[in-house]
Amino acid sequence: MPPMSSIADSEIDPLSAVTHPDPYPYYRELAASRPFFRDERLGLWIAAGPAEAAAVLSHPDCRVRPPAQPVPPSLAGTAAGELFGRLIRMNDGAAHAPLKALLMPMLAAIDPGAAARRAAMMAAVIDAGVFNGTSGERINRWLFTLPVVTVADLLGLPVADGDRADEVAQRVAAFAAAQSPLADTHTVRAGAEAAQWLGAWLADATAAAGPLPALRQAAAAAGIDAHAVAANTIGLLVQACEATAALAGNTLLRLGRGTSGLALDELVARVAQDDPPVQNTRRFLAADARLCGHAVKAGDAVLVLLAAASCRGTAEGARAWTFGHGRHACPGDRLAQALAVATVAALLARDADPAALARAFRYRPSLNARIPHFL
Ligand code: HEM
Repeated sequence: MPPMSSIADSEIDPLSAVTHPDPYPYYRELAASRPFFRDERLGLWIAAGPAEAAAVLSHPDCRVRPPAQPVPPSLAGTAAGELFGRLIRMNDGAAHAPLKALLMPMLAAIDPGAAARRAAMMAAVIDAGVFNGTSGERINRWLFTLPVVTVADLLGLPVADGDRADEVAQRVAAFAAAQSPLADTHTVRAGAEAAQWLGAWLADATAAAGPLPALRQAAAAAGIDAHAVAANTIGLLVQACEATAALAGNTLLRLGRGTSGLALDELVARVAQDDPPVQNTRRFLAADARLCGHAVKAGDAVLVLLAAASCRGTAEGARAWTFGHGRHACPGDRLAQALAVATVAALLARDADPAALARAFRYRPSLNARIPHFL
């Protein structure tokens, strides 16, 4: 048996790495020397190398949910569970393919430049809203509001007054938080209420402009359930929430630790690779299979360390893996980076001080996202 590495023996593990102050030496070592292994303590297979991450994410038997558990048990039977169960992000079934085929080109057609301009307009709406609190709290609220309400506005949803924008963003964040395996009963309850609120808001919203009316029409013509369209519209706001807040927040941290000399869009792209917002994603085996030279069993779970696969120096690591790969790869990657740039720019224009922010923050508890919470 090969000797265990010194870092692998120490405090850090593939889940605690997500919120560790500097997990990158550990990730680099895993990617280089243990690219695919079984972590018995966590009960997970771990894919850390870029080739292994690609193999798992493109394997037909690796599914986004455990086959017997389409909805996390904590959400089952609530409005949040019903919404979750309809998301294309959380499904591999053929039933979701027609809607996915409509959503993907709709997202691809959103021009990042236009999104940046819209974000600048939405920043003015937020200025007119009701944010109070310390400077850290204000920054957190901006990070969790501007990307989400810009996506809503781009879709044609009504968020053009400050209080409404604030409420929509808070409900989206509440629903997103409830999906975490770390969510307590209070967070789960708030997520279920938020799902209900968002459903009612969307049902009332007559999107006059934007791509939503065309999506609704095309879906109806294809016989797609209107509830699935609504759930996935909310799903887009949820996808834009935590990860984009984290990308913008990690960019503020990078700025606070020293000037890079890079233009802001280059810096955001660099952070997406070097200090990525989404650090891992999971897959669940639907059948016994051979994966990266190992015999894996139906029901086994694989943790794909996107942040390890991204490490510079790994074989094909010279790219950001944080947006995933394969059938479920993020269709919002360019949009997300444009939104993160716009959010950081809006905060800098409002006198945010990255050096001060980098002195007082912690990471939000999470098993997959590296989201700074400024104090
Ligand atoms: C920095 C921000 C973002 C990051 C890091 C990110 C990352 C990801 C990742 C890793 C996945 C794949 C999950 C998996 O394979 O298990 C994903 C899927 C997805 N993302 Fe993003 N995302 C971001 C922002 C956005 C935005 C702004 C949108 C759209 C408004 C979006 C829309 C989606 C959708 C619809 C999927 C599901 C695709 C599918 O299942 O086929 N994302 N994202």
